[in-house]
Amino acid sequence: MNLSSISENLNTEKRIAITPEIAKKYISLGFNLTLPNNYGTHLGFSDEDFKNFGVNLLDNDEEIIKKSDIFIQLGLPNEEKLSLLKGDQTLIGSLNTFLNKDKLESLKSKKVSCFSLELLPRITRAQSMDILSSQANLAGYKAVIEAFQIYERAIPMMMTAAGTVPAAKVLVVGAGVAGLQAIATAKRMGAVVFATDVRMASKEQVESLGGKFLTVEGSENLETEGGYAKEASDEFKKKQEDLLTETLKKIDIIICTALIPGREAPKIIKEEMFKNLQSGSVIYDLAASQGGNTVFTEVNKIVEKNGVKILGEVNILNKLPISASNLYAKNVFNFISNLYDKENKKLNINLEDEIIQKTLVK
Ligand code: NAI
Repeated sequence: MNLSSISENLNTEKRIAITPEIAKKYISLGFNLTLPNNYGTHLGFSDEDFKNFGVNLLDNDEEIIKKSDIFIQLGLPNEEKLSLLKGDQTLIGSLNTFLNKDKLESLKSKKVSCFSLELLPRITRAQSMDILSSQANLAGYKAVIEAFQIYERAIPMMMTAAGTVPAAKVLVVGAGVAGLQAIATAKRMGAVVFATDVRMASKEQVESLGGKFLTVEGSENLETEGGYAKEASDEFKKKQEDLLTETLKKIDIIICTALIPGREAPKIIKEEMFKNLQSGSVIYDLAASQGGNTVFTEVNKIVEKNGVKILGEVNILNKLPISASNLYAKNVFNFISNLYDKENKKLNINLEDEIIQKTLVK
């Protein structure tokens, strides 16, 4: 079977879907693997690195796409490239089914099988394929690093002869995968960490990392069966607002990660609440590309409000693309290993397998 990938638009996406280490694994599984020249050069992976493992390199995206049985990308390629796909081909990536409904519909009508890995069920068997977790872990870590870098005070407590520097106080809003990694990172660097979430299951996880969980009084547990958050009631939102407004008086840095699948990110840090933040505070909003958790977040900009800096970018993973590519490529490889029938050397789209059934775009 021919497996392939082409370069992403490097202005917006620096990650790659197949690293040399993973190319070797595909080839050992029996795939014929084709990539364009310079596929990983921007990350320090030379063409030789791929060729040494038996990858074919071609200088023609059109030919690569047309010849492929399985085509692996990060995001959905542009219309021109998509138009080259035809029946019996399989496209695998993080295809963002909410934003790309029409394009995916058109691929489906051409009988192209599309698998979107952000639809993976959060079950134990799918953990090694879970692109949302691997990428969110890195994003949570990097958001803390970015916020700490711009913050103009020290993070850990320091006792010096000239006086004591207090530890920075960090609030993490949303304690899912990214939030928990943000808590762990901030703790390691000596900050005092608070966190909140609408899912009560996250309380124990926050506490096990040394964070202090802020429980919204009388809160119901807003967790869906799939483990995701539900939209909160107006009453809950008001109570959360009161709790956070009070908490912000002692907070220096906020890491926002709150998301509800398929919806705009909840606006949690409102205009009035900024009055309680001290000048010099920093907010890193990981929810920026979904509308942001603060009312002032703007994508790819540092906005300043009352002396508070608010940062958020479309793709923070472009700031650690090598680590992100290594994990993404492994996740996709594990997904394909589950989809591939090694004996008959073909894909087995077995809809009784929950992983395959849920990720296939229908
Ligand atoms: P996510 O990226 O969709 O959301 C981030 C966090 O924001 C979530 O914890 C969510 O509860 C929280 N949130 C949403 N609205 C909020 C609000 N108004 N105020 C405060 N917090 C709010 O979530 P993520 O990180 O993708 O995790 C989703 C679920 O998947 C979690 O239950 C997680 O434990 C579970 N999971 C399970 C895995 C498994 O293999 N079993 C692997 C990874 C995650």
